[in-house]
Amino acid sequence: MTDDIQRRKRDHLTICANDAVAFQTRTTLLEEVELIHCALPEFALADVRTQAAFMGRTLQAPLLIGAMTGGTGDNAAFNTELAAVAEALGIGMSLGSLRPALEVPELVREFQVRDKAPNALVLTNIGGAQLRQYAPAQIIDLSRDIGADGLLVHLNTGMELIQPGGDTDFSGVLAHIARLVDAAQGWPVGVKAVGMGISFRDGERLRDAGVHCVETAGAGGTSWMAVEALRATGQQQRLGQLLQEQGIPTAVSTMWMRALGVSVIASGGVATGLDMARALALGADLTAVARPLVAAYRHGGPEEVRTYLDDMIAGLRYTMFLVGAQDLSALRQTPRVIGPALARYADAGLRP
Ligand SMILES: Cc1cc2nc3c(=O)[nH]c(=O)nc-3n(C[C@H](O)[C@H](O)[C@H](O)COP(=O)(O)O)c2cc1C
Repeated sequence: MTDDIQRRKRDHLTICANDAVAFQTRTTLLEEVELIHCALPEFALADVRTQAAFMGRTLQAPLLIGAMTGGTGDNAAFNTELAAVAEALGIGMSLGSLRPALEVPELVREFQVRDKAPNALVLTNIGGAQLRQYAPAQIIDLSRDIGADGLLVHLNTGMELIQPGGDTDFSGVLAHIARLVDAAQGWPVGVKAVGMGISFRDGERLRDAGVHCVETAGAGGTSWMAVEALRATGQQQRLGQLLQEQGIPTAVSTMWMRALGVSVIASGGVATGLDMARALALGADLTAVARPLVAAYRHGGPEEVRTYLDDMIAGLRYTMFLVGAQDLSALRQTPRVIGPALARYADAGLRP
């Protein structure tokens, strides 16, 4: 079984270097957020402040390297190199699922990034469907040993459905999350989706379970049903292809979490500084990017990942300058026009 997990993690890295797994028709709907231009910002570009506080850390920009990997058994460098980039840029990093390390203790080394990123926000990750296999203390203790600042539980029904041998029993997951939150005693436990977003109703249930934050991982970026369809055969593959455009657009999920008062990390197709600015204007506390970094890493290693992320941060700063927002709280107040598809979707989802 651990060989299977390691093979799967390796496949994901290979498949995700390819654009065939992007949503083809559905978008994030962030393009429907038009921030109104300000011709008189009355401050200098150099005075734009993008610092953000999250889980006890101060980030130089509200950006996380999204949860990806660890435990493939053959590329410990990926996480440590990305962690060094996060440290250099003053941003955060989520590690991939801890499951391989919970199964094979020596794989923990692929998650030990703290010495490369002493000041960066570092988060660990585990699947909701796997919570019944491990005691809450086991997950929290391992995360804290790694030096993580918090944990994100991923909810990935679509992926598990299409994945050969996927875990399709999600009964009791919410109660397991609540137990994990209790066991963590105030140490932050959040929840993330995996390319299909989080609904208003689910956000409400997660908020009531006491989660620290929700990462949207909405539709419009990487389709995880498309990823798994490429690994599956027969009926699984056909159903993955049928359903690969399903999911809640990132902009919609972000607005819903904000309406619920849930701290929100906007992700899923957040690939540029303009996407970041739009998501932050909708009320996101942070943003995260995953798959574009796989392609950058394959092409030019950690240097190219750094360039990609640096472009995102500079793009955010430029957009803030153009809309006259000197800091992130001003960006949240920026006048905007919301397009009809986003307005309709966001409004409809607030009703039962
Ligand atoms: C290679 C790869 C591996 C991933 N592994 C995980 C994982 O272990 N746990 C998780 O919660 N999300 C995982 N994800 C999902 C991302 O964290 C993210 O939610 C999703 O890809 C949407 O963001 P994007 O559109 O920027 O790719 C992975 C993504 C990639 C590209």
